[in-house]
Amino acid sequence: MEKFNLNQTIGESVTLHPELFPVYMKYGVDFCCGGDRTVQEAIEKDTDASQQLIADAQEKIDASLQLSVDSKTMKLSDFSTEQLIDRILTQHHTYLKAELPILSELMFKILTVHGENHTELFTIHKIFGNLKTELEGHLVKEEEFLFPKLLVKDSNCKALIEELEQEHDGAGDALHQLTDLTNHFTLPKDACTTYEIVYEKLKELVADMYMHVHTENNILFKRFV
Ligand SMILES: [Fe+2]
Ligand SMILES: [Fe+2]
Repeated sequence: MEKFNLNQTIGESVTLHPELFPVYMKYGVDFCCGGDRTVQEAIEKDTDASQQLIADAQEKIDASLQLSVDSKTMKLSDFSTEQLIDRILTQHHTYLKAELPILSELMFKILTVHGENHTELFTIHKIFGNLKTELEGHLVKEEEFLFPKLLVKDSNCKALIEELEQEHDGAGDALHQLTDLTNHFTLPKDACTTYEIVYEKLKELVADMYMHVHTENNILFKRFV
């Protein structure tokens, strides 16, 4: 039996064990921007339920080891650079381009209807708006400037990678703030269906962004710095 390793970095742990992704999401542990922290440090800082998390993680690792090697999904670390970029574009960038405008419209709708009784929505709306603007520019930088360089193995990309990593940190902060301000996406009693959809979509956004930034910071970018 393989033991859940608390001394590896949190980013490595998801790379080696993709099955840990839902566990970290459940407990709100950031494995993308704070990817260089050890598992121990990350879970102590991000959750009050570290013992429970360790038990859940061990269970996931045990269950995945019982699957035959063939039926296991390919690990991201085994992907070629071309495959990684393709996956980032088709899964994460496409998702953001489709969802950010929808979420923005719905967010404005609930601000209009519920802002008077739920003043935290003004802050949520503003943080989301800034995040959307930042992310749109960020996607263009990756698609137009960085990824073409990586595909031709141009080594002159360190400064750009650094800049993009800083933008990831900024996005990570915004996602943490959104998680806190919505009390982990807990709906108020008087929430309408639109409110529900917004919180559901925000939750999806956090999960997708964690996986997206993890794929870039901890796997793709690490090959070039
Ligand atoms: Fe990206
Ligand atoms: Fe990125």
